[in-house]
Amino acid sequence: MTRRVRIGTPEDFPDGTLVTVDAGGTGVIVARDGETLCAARNRCPHVGLSLTSGPGGTHFADGVVQCPWHNSRFTLCSGENLDWTPGIAGREMPKWSQRALSLGRKPAPLTTYPVVVEDGVVYVEL
Ligand code: FES
Repeated sequence: MTRRVRIGTPEDFPDGTLVTVDAGGTGVIVARDGETLCAARNRCPHVGLSLTSGPGGTHFADGVVQCPWHNSRFTLCSGENLDWTPGIAGREMPKWSQRALSLGRKPAPLTTYPVVVEDGVVYVEL
């Protein structure tokens, strides 16, 4: 069953900024792509760590978020995985080490959520 949770107003999500919100106990990352707001669970599908807190820091540019742990990259709006465990803490590692860093896990997308704006209020549908 879908749960609609208020996360702010459109002004809370400026262009090019990745915003972390607590949506009723679920950590969610939100960013604006033009007129569209996109949201995803703030857990990397690799081993479930935070996408915004870790040794590599927060990286978000051109709609792509990079995990701060093993550098996997995802398109926020679609959740698509673009690169799987290519490094550690923001540093690229040799290609041969990518398989070891994956810890045997196969590439997976982000869990994305619909975002709805109604009467000046932004909601995420979990
Ligand atoms: S936890 Fe994100 S790439 Fe490993």
